[in-house]
Amino acid sequence: MTDAPRQDRVLIFDTTLRDGEQSPGATMTHEEKLEIAAMLDEMGVDIIEAGFPIASEGDFRAVSEIAKNAVNARICGLARANPTDIDRAWEAVKHARQNRIHTFIGTSPLHRAIPGLSQDEMADLIHQTVSHARNLCEDVQWSPMDATRTEWDYLKRVVEIAIKAGATTINIPDTVGYTAPEESADLIRRLIAEVPGGEDVIFATHCHNDLGMATANALAAVAGGARQIECTINGLGERAGNTALEEVVMALKVRGDIMPWTTGVDTRKIMAISRRVATVSGFPVQFNKAIVGKNAFAHESGIHQDGMLKNRENFEIMRPEDVGLAASSLPLGKHSGRAALRDKLGNLGFEVGDNQLKDVFVRFKELADRKKEVFDEDIIALVRAGEEDSADALKLVSMKVVCGTGGPAEATVEMEIDGKDVSATAEGDGPVDATFKAVRALHPNEAHLQLYQVHAVTEGTDAQATVSVRLEEDGVIATGTSADTDTVVASARAYIHALNRLMVRRAKAGPGADKREINWKDAS
Ligand code: KIV
Ligand code: ZN
Repeated sequence: MTDAPRQDRVLIFDTTLRDGEQSPGATMTHEEKLEIAAMLDEMGVDIIEAGFPIASEGDFRAVSEIAKNAVNARICGLARANPTDIDRAWEAVKHARQNRIHTFIGTSPLHRAIPGLSQDEMADLIHQTVSHARNLCEDVQWSPMDATRTEWDYLKRVVEIAIKAGATTINIPDTVGYTAPEESADLIRRLIAEVPGGEDVIFATHCHNDLGMATANALAAVAGGARQIECTINGLGERAGNTALEEVVMALKVRGDIMPWTTGVDTRKIMAISRRVATVSGFPVQFNKAIVGKNAFAHESGIHQDGMLKNRENFEIMRPEDVGLAASSLPLGKHSGRAALRDKLGNLGFEVGDNQLKDVFVRFKELADRKKEVFDEDIIALVRAGEEDSADALKLVSMKVVCGTGGPAEATVEMEIDGKDVSATAEGDGPVDATFKAVRALHPNEAHLQLYQVHAVTEGTDAQATVSVRLEEDGVIATGTSADTDTVVASARAYIHALNRLMVRRAKAGPGADKREINWKDAS
């Protein structure tokens, strides 16, 4: 990482594991967080906000371990404006070769009302807490939450206080996605020019996408002088999400002519991490999402295909290879061997170890027996699908479903539960409902189904379906995924996968250990 960025270098601060993971339903397991952090580190992200250490034992453990493992990136932990939070954040990030404490408080009139502080009381608190953080760590980021709805004079005053107290980065959050590009640029420009000491710190931009302007607002802030963009993979985040990393990074790369700022991100690693984040968060990427959507590089209409064949620049402003999409996508078939599969996985951006390759190969062969051509999307679904782990307590052995017009569907499900074979039959409102009821008869649970989603992976009636199931029980959330040419089988597997993960998560959590008991917006 470049510690003192040149004027043309923009730091990328990724908050997928904090702001992204905080969005309801996007919780990741400990191992998944470590894996995503390693991918971010390897792709050249400058700062990784790894979590909110005070929020739970699980968050603390994840941030500490990410800090120990990081090779290039600076590791940051979030803290509210109080010494306990700040100490906890420091305890977690202090293991990193390069670390940062990020402390924040809501400064707008609405947010000041939450802790019920006057302007002067809050100003004092900002001075105390930033000084406290700076005594622990030489790299301190401070954020006036809801900055874009904070009175200008007060914003200027508190930014100056934070700089004097030792903040090295001042982040200006558009917490509710309220600002617009010109205003975003202007705000940063004026802060740099008018706040004493403003020239000596890095200004960061942190935009939410409520009005669909997060990317435009972040880039405008850079034009105004910001030199750090806060963002998440796939734009993951609360409500409409955060600025998408892939969008700002590619915009700067493609339009360097009018936006002459560079990042340290290896853009060829974008697709792999996008897919991984989609899988582990259970938030699929919309098909027409910029840069990483399934259709972002697809040219279906006759005119477009004709134009592409004549000269790809007719309809393509960036090359698929630049974001890590395989240039060729010849399908595999049942005669393809392990080497061809490994090669394909590599082209698709998956680095698999020997064990995972063995597992994916078995499932690939099963699929190739049922499906003439196995496309890239099928392979991606195979890797993504949360398959049964040998340690799983619940396993699907077999199932049979009878459904049709004029009556309820009936599902008979055979499962192995803690090593014992059991089976149950249940009726339901359609085949999926009947199947889930049969699973519940075998493994009674109170888990509430938060999300059930089906996507066809490719075209045609023999296409695989990927199914995501999100369950919630006592505040603990788990997502399961699976893929199969039979949608009902994929649904059963995804449901069982989610139940297994829920059990593991609840067991690890103990009473509340992995649960976020605190209100993160309660800033003091
Ligand atoms: O959106 C926001 O204001 C935040 C802060 C904690 C920086 O995420
Ligand atoms: Zn945010």
